[in-house]
Amino acid sequence: MNTILAWAHETLKESDHLTFEVLNPDIGRGSYAGESVIIDDATYVYRSYKAWSDLGELLFCRMLTPKPASEHTIILTYEKLDLSDSFHRSQEKEEKYGTASRFAAIRKNEEPAFLSAYLRALRSVKVGEKKRILNLGINTGDEFDLIRQILSHEEYMNLSLVGIDHSESAISVARERFNEGNATFYVYDINDLASLNLGRFDLIITIGTLQSSTLEFKSLFASLVQEYLSKEGAMILGFPNCRWIGGEMIYGAKAPNYPYSEMSILVKDIYYCKKYLQQKKFRATVTGKDYLFLTGTKIV
Ligand SMILES: C[S@@+](CC[C@H](N)C(=O)[O-])C[C@H]1O[C@@H](n2cnc3c(N)ncnc32)[C@H](O)[C@@H]1O
Repeated sequence: MNTILAWAHETLKESDHLTFEVLNPDIGRGSYAGESVIIDDATYVYRSYKAWSDLGELLFCRMLTPKPASEHTIILTYEKLDLSDSFHRSQEKEEKYGTASRFAAIRKNEEPAFLSAYLRALRSVKVGEKKRILNLGINTGDEFDLIRQILSHEEYMNLSLVGIDHSESAISVARERFNEGNATFYVYDINDLASLNLGRFDLIITIGTLQSSTLEFKSLFASLVQEYLSKEGAMILGFPNCRWIGGEMIYGAKAPNYPYSEMSILVKDIYYCKKYLQQKKFRATVTGKDYLFLTGTKIV
């Protein structure tokens, strides 16, 4: 694999795609990557589709549908992602994540790695038993949508949902999507939360928002715990450990000053929040992969 990786990096400097022939992974099923598979006196090296898909992701490529090459082999093609096709580069402020942005095309709940981790977090806080739920950086409301999907209509209608975002276009979509009467949305700056007099919440969710350069991470987090959570309130904080590029969710947080994914800021921020919650008598867990979820529930 070391040789393949070096060859792939070298080839992609000159070309926008890679094509190569490998053992059909279906044939060596159950082997580990690198194990030899002998067929008719020929020796092949086994690697799973997952390993090939991981390689594509590491190379910032999308893997195309494999084509049969011979009875035992397939042709794999990777195509370079267009690195300029990403909302991360936008310089806008309020509408960086608005409905006209590239971000608006993303459906995080359709990515299994995001969905399963977020679902686990919702279940671990027993979302159906919460009454008032606040979401900071709600955008068009996907995070409320999953709650609506997993609860019965009656359970869902017992909730009172509040979503905040400074993107006017995103909030206007959210208002249309959640018009059953139990959700309120504000086009508002999270820095100015106090002037909304929102009261306390049984669950606060904020995904991909707290680390925004427009927000004061530590003081905002402390004020959420102290001033916005009810006595037995819970928290779900989602920290991106990925980038969205050319239609793909690519593992690894981009850090300033590093040409590769570097996780110091992510780890530091999560650790800070986890310690803080534990000191305030919360049980805090960290789960997930492309998004890391810090879930805090009160120890009673
Ligand atoms: C990366 S997006 C995450 C949106 C959504 N939670 C998700 O994960 O798909 C960050 C969201 O926070 C909003 N946001 C960022 N800073 C804000 C601020 N100071 N006040 C209000 N909203 C803010 C953005 O408009 C955007 O919708």
